Amino acid sequence: MIEIKKDTYWVGAIDWELRNFHGYSTPTGSTYNAYLIVDEKPTLIDTVKDYGFEEMASRIKAIIDPLKIQYIISNHTEMDHSGSIEKMLQLCPNAEIVCSPNGEKGLKRHFKKDWKFKVVNTGDELKIGSRTLKFFLMPMVHWPDSMATYSTDDEILFPNDAFGQHHASAERYAAEVGEDIVFEAAAKYYANIVMPYGAQVLKVLEALKTLKLEMICPSHGLIWKKEENIKQILTLYKKWASYESDKRAVIIYDTMWHSTEKIAFELSELLDKENIPVVRFNLQNADYSDAITEVMRSKVVLLGSAILNNRILPSMGGFLTYLKGLKPKNRFALSFGSYGWSKVGFKDLEEGLKEAGMQLIGDGSYMQFVPDESEIEGLKSTVSKIKELISG
Ligand SMILES: [Fe+2]
Ligand SMILES: [Fe+2]
Repeated sequence: MIEIKKDTYWVGAIDWELRNFHGYSTPTGSTYNAYLIVDEKPTLIDTVKDYGFEEMASRIKAIIDPLKIQYIISNHTEMDHSGSIEKMLQLCPNAEIVCSPNGEKGLKRHFKKDWKFKVVNTGDELKIGSRTLKFFLMPMVHWPDSMATYSTDDEILFPNDAFGQHHASAERYAAEVGEDIVFEAAAKYYANIVMPYGAQVLKVLEALKTLKLEMICPSHGLIWKKEENIKQILTLYKKWASYESDKRAVIIYDTMWHSTEKIAFELSELLDKENIPVVRFNLQNADYSDAITEVMRSKVVLLGSAILNNRILPSMGGFLTYLKGLKPKNRFALSFGSYGWSKVGFKDLEEGLKEAGMQLIGDGSYMQFVPDESEIEGLKSTVSKIKELISG
């Protein structure tokens, strides 16, 4: 039983087994955080993934008879949070489902059931006894239905996926786990889940300024409780939502006969000599979700591929699809690679980078079959240009 504040409990499920969340690697697993507020009208805030239901239910049963639950707040329709609503309603059939207008539509599409819905909008309040809950719609952070619930008396924000991290641990608070681990997990989460919605995140941050926050309780990972941690995560969200980056570079590539790899290594070494921090990913063994986290941090993104059948390699094609969806703004990009007899395939790379919202640094560095010394020498001027852009 984990009481986070008097009569407010964490009743979620820990997914120790999870290693992949729709393509996002989760080396420690994740948690689905549900919260129970015991007041005159006991209220459950969010549920858990379908297979975590028994764990959540047993935590609830250790606190109250689930039949007493009057409200199930569904802050977000996605099934990692709403997947247990149907089973939960079997334990508390009279409970009303509190959600946003888009939440109602989404839940009906998923479950094909006409439950008792209580639809709320921004500013609406719900008195559950001695406590009042207030709702804030957060459209596109990160689904149209997303909203946050604020417990006004306890000053606790339940923002669902916002401020979350895919991290499984025995601890429940960020400060207990080690801040480096939690902030890294929060960065990866933002990059992979929230990054396209910077404008919407900034609106949410503006709305949050009016609230006192004793705790931020996201739907994944650790709770932000320490005052300094709350400030830090809000500051980071402002930075990420504004598409700010650090003075660093990331190289992401795939190679066929080591030529593109050679260019990647040379670029890496030259950047290193210029004291520009650089991180390198080979898509043969790196996963997209880690690479994209570095893209979020880096002002310059270098993408390289060999050409196969007049096209870039499939791994790079997949990565570009992912990048185009996440659209990291305000970044410079260089394309590079080795080709056999036609450079036409590099168009895919250049167009993909432009579509992802990046500004190309001149012509790409393309070399036929095996790079020669003069071509490698030519990379020096490219790196000088990168240095100027990074310092500018
Ligand atoms: Fe979600
Ligand atoms: Fe989620």
